[in-house]
Amino acid sequence: MKKIFVVLLMATVAASLVFAGGASDNSGKQVVGVLMPTQSSERWINDGGNMKKMLESKGYAVELQCAEDDVQMQVSQLENMIASGVDCLVIASIDSTALVNGLATAKQNNIPVIAYDRLLMDTDAVSYYATFDNKGVGTAIGKYIEEKKGLATAAAEGRSYTIEFFMGSPDDNNALFLYNGCMEVLKPYLDNGVLRCKTGRTSFQDTCILRWSQETAQQWCENYLAGFYADEKLDIACSAFDGFAYGIRSVLEGAGYKVGQDWPLITGQDADLMAVRNIISGHQTMTIYKDTRLLASKCVTMVEAVLKGFQPEINDTTQYNNGVNVVPSYLCEPVPVDKDNYVKVIVDGGYYTKEQLKIN
Ligand code: BGC
Repeated sequence: MKKIFVVLLMATVAASLVFAGGASDNSGKQVVGVLMPTQSSERWINDGGNMKKMLESKGYAVELQCAEDDVQMQVSQLENMIASGVDCLVIASIDSTALVNGLATAKQNNIPVIAYDRLLMDTDAVSYYATFDNKGVGTAIGKYIEEKKGLATAAAEGRSYTIEFFMGSPDDNNALFLYNGCMEVLKPYLDNGVLRCKTGRTSFQDTCILRWSQETAQQWCENYLAGFYADEKLDIACSAFDGFAYGIRSVLEGAGYKVGQDWPLITGQDADLMAVRNIISGHQTMTIYKDTRLLASKCVTMVEAVLKGFQPEINDTTQYNNGVNVVPSYLCEPVPVDKDNYVKVIVDGGYYTKEQLKIN
């Protein structure tokens, strides 16, 4: 699946570079440079594609590049885009602090910068930030677990559940927001013993996974089951990313867990196509749907605002301090999705077709 997406994306990127013509063309169009972190996960393919389509429909030329989670590659892409004279930059970073020098150069050259989904840290070069409510993602995951497992009444009823945490990348500002939102809901249950984390790994430091690596999540899950769950099942895998959920799934299958019997509650984020299919088959319990079309449309308004000189719509001016400024932000709403509402939210919302989801 991953390979198919990569191949498709490479074709898209190649086409985009040919058709966009780049900043040095003489079409007279303003050029927007769009930097995405990776093609290894479906959401970023959609993000890049939506941004390009929407910006082009507004008359901009687009130079779209992805950096395969290679920080140095993204640094170079940024430098090259600045050198080619783009008019505006939209950046979803890999390492949120690694682009500071390039961003300072962008500022010197009067190239406005919009942070896309992930905040750019330690810089005064960012005009606006378009994202989802990242703490809200964590809260939604926590609340889902609380509700589905009936945690509020568990102590009185003598119930408790085992849980392990798989959190996002420490160099991605979103990851800590998510963790904090999630723990705001779940910590009281860890404290009163309704949730039992047998590895003892509950801090952000102990549960964050560099570069959101599916392989690391899988390895951790394997180690956890072997080391701590020989005599008791894992009930809940609190995962911050669909990619982690895929890794966890394969470990559980190997360990003999069965859907409909002892399969744990597994959370995720992004509503990747495979995740929604796994929800339908019961191998993942929920995901957080982030409509990348909505995010792209908000970000495109910000691009127009900086290039045309008006104020874009902003709905948060307090939460996103990047170490230098509080960056004016627009937060889109994340929506929890499971087997009960995916048709209404995902299919009726036009995100995936029934055919894509292979629903009969
Ligand atoms: C995004 C998530 C995504 C993760 C891994 C985060 O910055 O907000 O939607 O799952 O990166 O790609």
